[in-house]
Amino acid sequence: MDKMTDTAIATLHYGDKSLQLPILKGTVGPDVIDVRKLYAESDAFTFDPGFTSTASCQSALTYIDGDAGILLHRGYPIDELANNSSFLEVCYLLLNGELPNAADFAKFEGNITNHTMLHDQFDRFFQGFRRDAHPMAIVLGAVGALSAFYHDSLDTSDEHQRMVSAHRLIAKIPTIAARAYKYSVGQPFVSPRNDLGYAENFLRMCFAVPAEDWKPNPTLSKAMDKIFILHADHEQNASTSTVRMAGSTGVNPFACIAAGIAALWGPAHGGANEEALNMLKEIGTVDKIPEFVQGVKDRKYKLMGFGHRVYKNYDPRAKVMQETCHQVLAVVGDPDEPLLQVAQELERIALSDEYFISRKLYPNVDFYSGITLSAMGFPPEMFTVLFALARTVGWVSQWKEMIEDPQQKINRPRQLYTGPAKRPYVPLDKRG
Ligand code: CMC
Repeated sequence: MDKMTDTAIATLHYGDKSLQLPILKGTVGPDVIDVRKLYAESDAFTFDPGFTSTASCQSALTYIDGDAGILLHRGYPIDELANNSSFLEVCYLLLNGELPNAADFAKFEGNITNHTMLHDQFDRFFQGFRRDAHPMAIVLGAVGALSAFYHDSLDTSDEHQRMVSAHRLIAKIPTIAARAYKYSVGQPFVSPRNDLGYAENFLRMCFAVPAEDWKPNPTLSKAMDKIFILHADHEQNASTSTVRMAGSTGVNPFACIAAGIAALWGPAHGGANEEALNMLKEIGTVDKIPEFVQGVKDRKYKLMGFGHRVYKNYDPRAKVMQETCHQVLAVVGDPDEPLLQVAQELERIALSDEYFISRKLYPNVDFYSGITLSAMGFPPEMFTVLFALARTVGWVSQWKEMIEDPQQKINRPRQLYTGPAKRPYVPLDKRG
């Protein structure tokens, strides 16, 4: 598994010491200076809050070239996967490293399809939430609670149990997400149907009601599947790093994924799609854009759905999402949807404006996803839930990779301490 090879040395002069730091090379991407022995040899730490220059692990899953706008899963470009593959095939690829042959795929699909139901007692768990609970709060709690129901797959040292947990998570997260939605709108839960595809089954669990037949719409099922592919994994982002951080302690995978869901919820991460749609609604019409953009430049607020820590170019997922948005609006909603017009004009203005150009701010995956999901019938509170559903495979694949990495150890960053130095305790009656 160790793809890292020392080919060169970086020399660091620190005080009266001269330290030789190995330079590691990945398959592609920037060189990595190995500072693992720095503290032992120099008594100094590195300082990198926000991890802008730190590789926290080695990984063979996903590669991003942010300057070129490239995203590869196990070497395959995201647009090729989104346009030619299926979400379950991408799940197999992420989990196992290679695209499956027909027999392996049939077995994998069967495994996922046959694990979609939840323990009957699990359904009662949902009833404990307030009706107005945010669905992310419900999903976060419910995924953590899986560890209370599936005791036979909690041993992280057992390879078979790790795979069973991975399959359970991928299979059950659509059922949990759909129940979170149904609970929030006061409709009865819809059980999964094993004869439907992954995305179609999820749409049915969200939108079928007992009072009428639910008819699948192939364009929407395809769009949902594509949206899942676009969100499946994204290297060492905040939620994935959280999963790895939690997993490094040896805790079970259900608890790790719950930790990832918590991190994803924030508006700077997965919560941005909800914020992006709210922002477009707030702008409302094209004529209000110049005033809004001025507010962004005056730093009153951020342009949600724009900018990325890694992409300093067009997010390749955003391109596919934009196409998907048009496909969805052509069959449901309004092809001349006013919010789409606002989004397109906002994008045009932003991409020709010095403020955004100089900071390399481009649309990210969340810019068009809100309009698309809204047209499909999802309320904004569900957007981040859908992101969590799709990202579950990425999280669980990264977690598995970490557990199986012989170099893995508990994650324990250090700090630059800025508090008081040692001082004696002063009794209360002696304090001024
Ligand atoms: N609107 C306006 N200005 C921005 C934006 C934005 N969306 N994003 C960054 N900037 C400015 C920022 O103010 C800074 O300006 P200056 O150099 O003058 O101080 C400069 O660009 C660099 O920004 P940064 O904050 O150092 O960048 P970062 O890498 O720390 O932040 C980000 C990345 C995604 C948190 C940020 O771009 C942002 O908050 N975007 C809006 C939220 C969003 O769309 N998030 C979804 C990310 S994609 C989905 C996912 O993976 O979760």
